[in-house]
Amino acid sequence: MKKNPVIPFALIAVLGIVAMIVLSVIGLDEQDRIANGGEEGETVNTDPEAIAQSCIGCHGGDLEGASAPSLQNLESKYSVEEVEDIINNGIEGTAMQGGIVPSEEAAILAEWLVTGETGEAAGESEEAAEEEGH
Ligand code: HEC
Repeated sequence: MKKNPVIPFALIAVLGIVAMIVLSVIGLDEQDRIANGGEEGETVNTDPEAIAQSCIGCHGGDLEGASAPSLQNLESKYSVEEVEDIINNGIEGTAMQGGIVPSEEAAILAEWLVTGETGEAAGESEEAAEEEGH
């Protein structure tokens, strides 16, 4: 029996069309995933304890001090602005490097380290204090 020479071409064409449909479906999925995931990646981390994970390697698991000094009683030493400056710019000539976390996160972290409060909690306690005053 003589083989029909058109069949291989037809097969390739069908395969090509199937591949196109499959790829475009995968592509749409991927688009959704990138759109959602991309947003997440850009959001600033606002949980200071999560941000502090970048510091525990040197400052200890509870920031109690390790190869680097404790960060637990910073308020006796620095203002929020000074700590923010240290996080952003580091301490020259030491292992304390600046820019470990983005500057937005540095501000949140500095406030938490010095005042023990997150930006939100600080707002809440201010309100509470106002109410007490009445
Ligand atoms: C690579 C190790 C390392 C990492 C990571 C690191 N630090 Fe430090 N840090 C140091 C060292 C070492 C010092 C002490 C520098 C000195 O001799 O004054 C220091 C000092 C500090 C000080 C001043 C403390 C004091 O008592 O004078 C602050 C505040 C500080 N670090 C905050 C942070 C924060 C916040 C992070 C995380 C974003 C962080 N550090 C990450 C090594 C590190």
